Amino acid sequence: MADNSDNKVKPPERQYPDPAAKLKKDPPTTGHSWDGIEEYDNPMPRWWVWIFIITIVWSLGYWVAYPAWPGIQRATSGVLGYSSRADVAAEISEFEARNEQFFVQLVETDLDGIHDDDELQRFAVNAGASVFRAQCSQCHGTGGAGVQAAGFPNLLNDEWLWGGTMEDIHETIRYGIRNEDYADARWSEMPAFGRDGILSEEEIDETVHFVLSLSDADHDADLAAAGAEHYEMNCASCHGDGGEGDYFIGAPALNTQVWLYGGSYDAIFESIYYSRFGVMPGFAGRLRDAEIRAVAAYVHQLGGGQ
Ligand code: HEC
Ligand code: HEC
Repeated sequence: MADNSDNKVKPPERQYPDPAAKLKKDPPTTGHSWDGIEEYDNPMPRWWVWIFIITIVWSLGYWVAYPAWPGIQRATSGVLGYSSRADVAAEISEFEARNEQFFVQLVETDLDGIHDDDELQRFAVNAGASVFRAQCSQCHGTGGAGVQAAGFPNLLNDEWLWGGTMEDIHETIRYGIRNEDYADARWSEMPAFGRDGILSEEEIDETVHFVLSLSDADHDADLAAAGAEHYEMNCASCHGDGGEGDYFIGAPALNTQVWLYGGSYDAIFESIYYSRFGVMPGFAGRLRDAEIRAVAAYVHQLGGGQ
């Protein structure tokens, strides 16, 4: 197709007036000019100016009302007397007041009644757990599992030396065991049968075999039969005829797999030859009554409470 655009008649260009230009003129300029580019001198939007003024007024008020300006010793204190430290102190004392009510309740409640009150029991176990971590875990382990074969009993199981009722546990913690600090400390002493010459090494050897037989551990039946006599004469009064132990004097059961000092031949031989003398401090003078009750409740619910 032939290009005939040149033949077209162009309509005359129409000039439309700029409506904006009619309404207002360009704002004044700052008078600067860079390569022909000029800068308008527009006023700040009014909303912006107002916010600016309000923030200045606000900050003046804040400086007066609250601690604001750092000084050499301390900041200006502000007319409201606010201090974040006072806030924290108030929170702590509110918290303590709330706890105090539970502490009072703990002391007033019968030992066996504590676990009947869900809220009190929960408080006691939580408070007791933190006492335990601070005061008991170095000997009994953080979870109460004890230290195997070192004479620190496991508190998680059903095997007790001195009894596992709330009453028993509470008393153990209060006065401790075989310490010199409390006249009421739990006390008993197993004779050192070997060192003090009550039994010969041969007799002790036989007795060890009998003790091993009580928990069905490997043993020599003939030696155990001979040991049975020594046991009945020397040991049954404390450990029981069948090795069931005695809470009253803290004599461990010998007929279970749970051992305080170890259940090997050597460990048992040593227990009989030298005897053992496990010591635990008492806490009556170190902890508040409520704390002792709380930690007793904690130990009681660990698994072996009776
Ligand atoms: C310095 C070590 C030590 C500390 C600390 C200690 N105990 Fe003991 N605890 C012992 C020993 C050792 C025995 C076992 C004593 C024995 O042979 O009769 C024991 C025994 C017990 C028993 C008796 C267990 C049973 O089978 O009858 C309880 C309960 C107990 N401890 C709880 C606690 C609590 C709770 C605390 C903390 C408030 C604590 N102990 C702190 C060393 C300690
Ligand atoms: C006066 C009471 C008494 C007499 C008698 C006695 N014991 Fe004990 N025996 C205890 C006590 C209490 C303990 C725990 C000591 C401790 O906790 O430190 C113990 C601990 C033991 C242990 C350690 C147990 C373990 O779990 O590690 C063995 C083993 C033992 N006795 C065997 C005997 C034998 C065998 C005889 C007799 C030859 C005997 N006892 C006589 C009171 C007695």
